[in-house]
Amino acid sequence: MSSLDETARAIVADGKGILAADETPATITKRFTEHGIPSTPESRRAFREALFTTPGIAPFIGGVILQDETIRQKSASGQALIELLTAQGIIPGIKADASTRPLAGAPGERITEGLDGLRARLEEYGKLGARFAKWRAVFIISSDGLPTHACLHANADALARYAALCQEQGLVPIVEPEVLMDGSHTIERCEEVTSQVLHAVFDELYDQSVRLEGMLLKPNMVIAGHDSPQEASVAEVAEATVRTLARHAPAAVPAIVFLSGGQGQTLATEHLDAINRLDAPKPWTLTFSYARALQDEAMAIWRGKSENVAAAQRAFHHRAACNHAAALGRYSEAMETQSRLAPGGP
Ligand code: 13P
Repeated sequence: MSSLDETARAIVADGKGILAADETPATITKRFTEHGIPSTPESRRAFREALFTTPGIAPFIGGVILQDETIRQKSASGQALIELLTAQGIIPGIKADASTRPLAGAPGERITEGLDGLRARLEEYGKLGARFAKWRAVFIISSDGLPTHACLHANADALARYAALCQEQGLVPIVEPEVLMDGSHTIERCEEVTSQVLHAVFDELYDQSVRLEGMLLKPNMVIAGHDSPQEASVAEVAEATVRTLARHAPAAVPAIVFLSGGQGQTLATEHLDAINRLDAPKPWTLTFSYARALQDEAMAIWRGKSENVAAAQRAFHHRAACNHAAALGRYSEAMETQSRLAPGGP
């Protein structure tokens, strides 16, 4: 087994998942603003330091995706933030893309940028301690036929070029093609588009000689749009998601680490649990790589105030514990009250 394969497996071992703490300054500013929290490099550091130093999270969180700003920051006591993770055996990763821009010639669609100079950036991130990287592409479903062939193929090509460069530099690529929940589409339409996306992505990964054993796939779950008149049940989401992955994600990929995509935090846990409980062939580890569904409650409690850090950490610990249980197919609604730690801990 190559060291890439070993890293990919270590991140998701024993029901662990990933904390995606890699929101760009612009995105986290939007989230902070909703809670009246000023967004500065210092406040972003304080929030992320609170998450990373939450006592007792290492059994639940195998990897953390960092932002370019965060990987260079130091804690209040002067230790590199990345070291706070490695000291607990948590593997640090980095968002390697440069976000999305309008795709020329394809109105309403977006292309992920960041390939120029990527080799040198990955080399630097590796020296800073990152062992994996992430690149997110987005696909919009619309009633008038999006996504287009152009958008599917341009983004799949970029994902594969990024993944090949990561492996060349010794970093495990997380390949993240996200079919967005925005819109009123049905779960059936999401399944159709997710199938097309995964087909295009694995075709390009094959063409560009990406080693499947040394990567992680981070897809959306197959789910109805936010404004769909027909919300799918938890069982329907689990069945459609596993069916789509069985058809389009090769068994050589060691793990599938879902994004939460704007699902409520509890629903994201319920879906992951149902996916893992489903009686169907599942050759991959199926776990989480959530941002909002792990952090929202902690952020709302923290509100930028140091006196709220312990309570915010308890909320984050709780969500991480619930999602870890879901990754093992052992979550239950009762955990929502039982696993909340008593005041004073962690
Ligand atoms: P969400 O879980 O909030 O969808 O974020 C995951 C992620 O990493 C998006 O790129």
